Amino acid sequence: MTQDAGETRQGGRAQGMFGPQAAEYAVSRVHVSDASLQELRRLASNPDGDPYPWVVDLGTGAGFTAFAMTEISQRVVATDVTLPMLEQTRRLGRDRGLTNLQLSRNAAEFLPFAGNSVDMVTSRVAGHHFDDLDRALDEVQRVLKVAGALVMADSVSPEDGAVAAWMNDIEVRRDFSHVKNRKVSELEAMVAMRGMTIVERRSPRIHLEFNAWVARTATPEDEVQRLRRDFLEAPDAMREAFKIEPVNGDINFSWPCLVFRAIKA
Ligand SMILES: C[S@@+](CC[C@H](N)C(=O)[O-])C[C@H]1O[C@@H](n2cnc3c(N)ncnc32)[C@H](O)[C@@H]1O
Repeated sequence: MTQDAGETRQGGRAQGMFGPQAAEYAVSRVHVSDASLQELRRLASNPDGDPYPWVVDLGTGAGFTAFAMTEISQRVVATDVTLPMLEQTRRLGRDRGLTNLQLSRNAAEFLPFAGNSVDMVTSRVAGHHFDDLDRALDEVQRVLKVAGALVMADSVSPEDGAVAAWMNDIEVRRDFSHVKNRKVSELEAMVAMRGMTIVERRSPRIHLEFNAWVARTATPEDEVQRLRRDFLEAPDAMREAFKIEPVNGDINFSWPCLVFRAIKA
């Protein structure tokens, strides 16, 4: 089931974070299923109703998006740069009895697939970790067939510069592998400049609970305390943008998310 192909030059920080924490991601409520996965699944459905011959999932983590894609594709290749994450995908895929799932260890920036060969590329809550999302999108553009689809879900920052900076600062202090939550306008421009046209988009929220969120990344306790204080003392603009709400010793909040389907011309 595992093929070890392609480059793993990128993703050093991601491997440092996700390697030791892989088992946490395999049981994370928000990763197993949430609104971003439900919307991605909707936008990924083939309008013709036929199964796709071949789907590639990037930054597959413990595999939950790839598993959903096995229901609508003949063959799914789940790719990730972090080996322990792929081991979780393999274990969970076996438990589910999946026979049309393959694994490939590679960075999203170096896809070990021929040009013009893949019917659909998916990626969920991973793009903001990629060292070089521009290069990953170049690769998506290269491997997709003409009229093939990129269906992507990722956390995004608000358009307001100060609010976006607050969010990215919080994210990188909690998770050293965080690179950037882009603004919707930025992400859409990156897709458009590669000749891919966004034909559908949705904006679900990613609902998070602070205590579980920092436990998943094993954030050091002194940083957890600083982050908790920053959430509790957040200015009104951040409180409203991220729906920050203290509840019984925890803090509920949510990140904005963009899910889109883009078609290669
Ligand atoms: C939050 S998890 C993804 C969750 C998963 N897509 C899902 O739907 O449950 C992020 C994943 O991105 C992977 N990753 C980070 N940088 C990467 C890169 N440059 N290339 C490929 N995978 C990368 C990490 O190893 C990690 O497994």
